[in-house]
Amino acid sequence: MATLANHRLLAGRDPAIPLSENTHLLRWVEKMAHLTKPEAIHWVDGSAQEYDALCSLLVEAGTFVRLNQELWPGCFLARSDASDVARVEDRTFICSLSKEAAGPTNNWMDPYQMRRRLKGLFNGSMRGRTMYVLPYSMGPVGGPMSQIGVQLTDSPYVVVNMRIMARIGLAVFKEIDKDYKRVVPCMHSVGMPLAPGQADVAWPCNSEKYIVHFPETREIWSYGSGYGGNALLGKKCFALRIASNIARDEGWMAEHMLIVGVEDPRGQKTYIAAAFPSACGKTNLAMLIPPKGFEGWKVWTVGDDIAWIKPDANGELRAINPEAGFFGVAPGTSAKTNPNAMATLKRNTIFTNTALTPDGGVWWEGMTDNPPAECLDWRGKPWTARIAKSTGATAAHPNARFTAPAKQCPTIDPEWENPEGVPISAIVFGGRRATTMPLIYQAFNWSAGVYSGATMGSETTAAAAGQVGRVRRDPMAMLPFCGYHMGDYLRHWIRMQRSLTVTPRIFHVNWFRKDENGKFLWPGFSENMRVLQWIVDRAHGRAQGRETPIGWMPGYDDFEWQGLEFSRERFEELQAFHRSEWRAEVIGHEELFIDIHDHIPPEMIYERELLICRL
Ligand code: GTP
Ligand code: SPV
Ligand code: MN
Repeated sequence: MATLANHRLLAGRDPAIPLSENTHLLRWVEKMAHLTKPEAIHWVDGSAQEYDALCSLLVEAGTFVRLNQELWPGCFLARSDASDVARVEDRTFICSLSKEAAGPTNNWMDPYQMRRRLKGLFNGSMRGRTMYVLPYSMGPVGGPMSQIGVQLTDSPYVVVNMRIMARIGLAVFKEIDKDYKRVVPCMHSVGMPLAPGQADVAWPCNSEKYIVHFPETREIWSYGSGYGGNALLGKKCFALRIASNIARDEGWMAEHMLIVGVEDPRGQKTYIAAAFPSACGKTNLAMLIPPKGFEGWKVWTVGDDIAWIKPDANGELRAINPEAGFFGVAPGTSAKTNPNAMATLKRNTIFTNTALTPDGGVWWEGMTDNPPAECLDWRGKPWTARIAKSTGATAAHPNARFTAPAKQCPTIDPEWENPEGVPISAIVFGGRRATTMPLIYQAFNWSAGVYSGATMGSETTAAAAGQVGRVRRDPMAMLPFCGYHMGDYLRHWIRMQRSLTVTPRIFHVNWFRKDENGKFLWPGFSENMRVLQWIVDRAHGRAQGRETPIGWMPGYDDFEWQGLEFSRERFEELQAFHRSEWRAEVIGHEELFIDIHDHIPPEMIYERELLICRL
């Protein structure tokens, strides 16, 4: 077993020495160490040497496999425990003082009772392990829209992933010390203490999991999981669930959205923010490369998962990507579907739950047309296409992920780290729907647009544990991420318009409509550029649209078709509005609205009435 002494040596400093003088922080770390009883405390400085040493430690522990460094420089593969592979929504809690404040779409438990339970769980939970003191900034360090968190964790896997996903280390400690800034305390333990002499496992975790948020005190406690959004607490726990509470109080928005800048051939750039549920195409759209027929157009990447959006002094919305890396879905990512992602993850990337090829590389379903002759699957077991045929086992887990630095993306926007954010001209909502929903329509106005986001449906995916493929209502793709009452969240959306002088246009897209044979009607990926162009043109009041009961839609001739053979008939099928399907859809809207009726903004009721009249 590697010990702390190893990386003490490599880092060239004593990691036990506190890197902050903030007495609040020091006292809290002391108190938490007293509770969790780690063997050692490591103050994370965020340096490259520290990162390398921790990666070596993870290799020695068997958590990481160092990939073939000629093919995959700086890359590692981690295999998680088979029971710890995705976010656990049914173990995620919003512990506000009142149950009412959390609303019916969140799990709630009395905060006093929850604190007692957590105290029990965390008591001695880090025995035999190192507790890392990990300071991180969501958004550029010191930026006016940025926020700071400090995560105490017993997972070195989390530390190295967080170094890619956020700004961490010394600069953040300095920022905390400088202004005595308020930080969000984040407690994290994999929940597997080690008795003296007990051997560790490659992926420690606990079958009992708790992902807990205290919105009033802005605190996060996560127990039992080391995976993704359960454990990288800056991401969904802070940047969405806690930040949505801060944003409501301060008049801005924390959203599950990608941000792209679409540059036209004259050089005019239009920024778009888009909310799609987990594993529904954000990373892919964020990295889109325009297809043939779009010479002179360019799409710039600002963010692929989270947007913090705030009105500026002129009443225009500006957005930052609070993250510094991509935690992207691996399966389906290929040189054909997303060459930008493939270029981004070529080096300095951590893969989790992909397959391992005999030459020390990674593979996943959809990466190449043909699978490798043999490989080890995400559990480390031999895998061939033949085995797959008989057992149905995939080589990579459907929620296998890559953690890659954003700055490695070839299309990263020159403005992506602008602390003031980029101006947002259009907002897009989109779910994964096999039927009913057309490829694209534009909402009549802000309130109709909020309604389209609020009633968004989508099929569930492997990003969360549980059944896959069931249509559920997922308002603004925030159902699992809104840290307070969903009805109040919709009120906040309606209210936001009042602080704006320029209101972004709102659109709804669906890349996933299927024909009668179950085939996708739309080729998607780079071809989505044709939809983006119409959105950009509409946002500037340039493109044609015809009015339908649900909003404005492009006609076949309003799209650029150069470079793609797509018939008028197929486009009509893709855009078809079927009255009978929409009747069922509107009834489906009630599913959620009934639950939150006592908090819903009246505008949603009017919009529903208007929609029914138009139908
Ligand atoms: P999270 O990281 O979980 O929030 O997911 P995401 O919204 O970033 O989704 P991502 O872009 O990773 O895509 C998820 C899956 O959808 C992948 O398997 C993609 O191949 C597939 N996908 C993305 N865009 C399209 C598209 O335009 N058409 C089709 N048919 N599939 C797509
Ligand atoms: C999602 O599930 O929406 C993700 C992955 O982006 S996770 O970080 O696990 O939340
Ligand atoms: Mn996401």
